Amino acid sequence: MRAVRITETGGPEVLAVTDVPSPEPGAGEVLVAVEAAGVNFVDTYRRGGVYPVDLPTGLGSEGAGRVLALGAGVDGFAVGDLVAWKEAAGSSAEQVVVAAAELVPVPDGVDATTAAAVLLQGLTAHYLCTDTHRVTEGTWCLLHAGAGGVGLLLTQMIRLRGGHVVTTTSTEEKAELSRAAGADAVVRYADATATARELTGGRGVDVVYDSVGRDTFDASLRALRPRGLMVLFGGSSGQVPPFDVQRLNREGSLFLTRPNLASYTLDRAELLHRTDELFGWVRDGRLDVRVGHTYPLEQVRTAHEELEGRRTTGKVLLVP
Ligand SMILES: NC(=O)c1ccc[n+]([C@@H]2O[C@H](COP(=O)([O-])OP(=O)(O)OC[C@H]3O[C@@H](n4cnc5c(N)ncnc54)[C@H](OP(=O)(O)O)[C@@H]3O)[C@@H](O)[C@H]2O)c1
Repeated sequence: MRAVRITETGGPEVLAVTDVPSPEPGAGEVLVAVEAAGVNFVDTYRRGGVYPVDLPTGLGSEGAGRVLALGAGVDGFAVGDLVAWKEAAGSSAEQVVVAAAELVPVPDGVDATTAAAVLLQGLTAHYLCTDTHRVTEGTWCLLHAGAGGVGLLLTQMIRLRGGHVVTTTSTEEKAELSRAAGADAVVRYADATATARELTGGRGVDVVYDSVGRDTFDASLRALRPRGLMVLFGGSSGQVPPFDVQRLNREGSLFLTRPNLASYTLDRAELLHRTDELFGWVRDGRLDVRVGHTYPLEQVRTAHEELEGRRTTGKVLLVP
């Protein structure tokens, strides 16, 4: 089967698509034929060595497809079932082995493309606005990269929960998408703090969702109200350098968290609870999933270049 592999870390040029033997599911695992594989920023961190990986390795963690074979002791799934997953190493491939505990059934009314497009970024948006901060009626948020994969989904969820959101984008085309997703105001990065303060009567926002990291972190802190929450959940522009905690004191008793999806899908019950709600919103039309870019597996380099080069909107998918 064809699979994306890297033998060293580096830029997109280290990505190769090669023939490898089909994997075999062990106990508690399921072999799946991948119909669509999600490309996420975390794949670029792994490829580039920001997150350590054992080499050589496959790449990609998210996808959707049909069950091909069950390993020993797997209950609840059958050959032919449509399933999706957010975390299985080597998902950018024609086939992948997924731990049954990671696999979620895709309900009727949701197709494989949509499932692969929404799972990782949708679950992320879900935990960010339900649990990292419980967005409720009247909550004011600042969200960077409003036209990105997570950005478009999180904007819609904040509005579904009655919250308000100022988003940032780098271009007018992206701003239009962010507005269509429900943002109350869309601004360029340099104007984020001023707009966040203006729209909250000078007080500052309750929560900042910042996945851009190095370039936005300082200004994000200044957009918060006293006792507000800074959620640093990524580093699309680079990682934030070591931080002096006295700044939380100086800027008004702020809170800071650096969450990840694994800590918010700690067991199967939590994974299924979030997934049920997510797929429910998709099925009943309350959550629009925008697939911005679809590439054949062979064009994985282009997919990474476009994502890192800020030329994508919504979801980036690979189709084996
Ligand atoms: N912690 C978690 O649980 C978790 C889970 C999923 C994703 N994430 C993080 O969330 C972020 C978004 O992920 P995504 O897959 O949805 O990507 P994305 O938002 O679709 O793409 C990243 C966007 O960031 C913006 N950006 C600003 N400065 C940038 C720079 N210097 N280089 C590249 N992009 C820049 C760009 O939008 P503009 O052109 O509009 O600026 C770009 O389109 C990533 O940082 C990712 O690591 C975290």
